[in-house]
Amino acid sequence: MGKIIAVANQKGGVGKTTSAINLAASLAALEFKTLLVDADPQANATSGIGFDPGDISKSIYECMVDGLNVEDIIIKSNIDFLDLVPSHIDLVGAEVEMINLPNREEKMKEALKKISDRYDFIIIDCSPSLGLITVNALTAANSVIIPVQCEYFALEGLGKLLNTIKIIQSRLNTDLEIEGILLTMYDVRLRLSNQVVEEVKLHFQQMVFDTIIPRNVKLSESPSFGLPAILHDADSKGAISYLNLAREIVEKNAVLAK
Ligand SMILES: Nc1ncnc2c1ncn2[C@@H]1O[C@H](COP(=O)(O)OP(=O)(O)OP(=O)(O)O)[C@@H](O)[C@H]1O
Ligand SMILES: [Mg+2]
Repeated sequence: MGKIIAVANQKGGVGKTTSAINLAASLAALEFKTLLVDADPQANATSGIGFDPGDISKSIYECMVDGLNVEDIIIKSNIDFLDLVPSHIDLVGAEVEMINLPNREEKMKEALKKISDRYDFIIIDCSPSLGLITVNALTAANSVIIPVQCEYFALEGLGKLLNTIKIIQSRLNTDLEIEGILLTMYDVRLRLSNQVVEEVKLHFQQMVFDTIIPRNVKLSESPSFGLPAILHDADSKGAISYLNLAREIVEKNAVLAK
């Protein structure tokens, strides 16, 4: 069974999609069979690896609401070992449409169960919300990565997120673990960045990944080429840091590096 990791934080713009894309691409580069699931109506992960969400007719939405088989919507990416379950804007409607479905929190779990043994890792990019789709992602997942931006108000909303995770652990997914807190957009020159790192490490200690993601222009420009950073500029600090994160996760999970 593949390990399912959700990338979640209801705070917007903290690096969820950048982390989901580049972690997934790095795991694929290490030759782990990886599936990236775009669970955000913004569809940034879909466009970020080169697909136009406007061309997508079927998404995770149809799997959750209409019971479509997820196998039928998986797209092979241009990267070996990396597949995508795309998103499009209709996913916005899924929350409302699912409200009266039985087991509405478990629709994504049911959808992914059918294919999880084909992958080593399944990475879910969540939207900036703690709504039903994110609850579905956290119910489907074995663990969650929480990106925290090294900026003002970094810890804002984290209490609420951790509380939501606790509720999901107690009611919907007792096995859900926190894979780690990931510090993103770190700028070594800024005192503030360093203060955030210190504060987060003080609060969360071993929960924080050793790998810290620097602020790096290659990471911000690579989605406009429809590429993960590792293909846009493999030697960039951004690409290397996500490769390090992938290695850290592989080691932590004692998966034999290939
Ligand atoms: N390490 C980084 N260095 C430079 N720019 C970054 C970095 N990480 C993310 N960015 C940029 O910051 C912006 C927000 O990042 P991203 O889209 O990954 O966040 P998000 O949490 O997925 O946002 P949303 O909440 O809207 O889904 C994007 O423009 C992205 O390119
Ligand atoms: Mg995003």
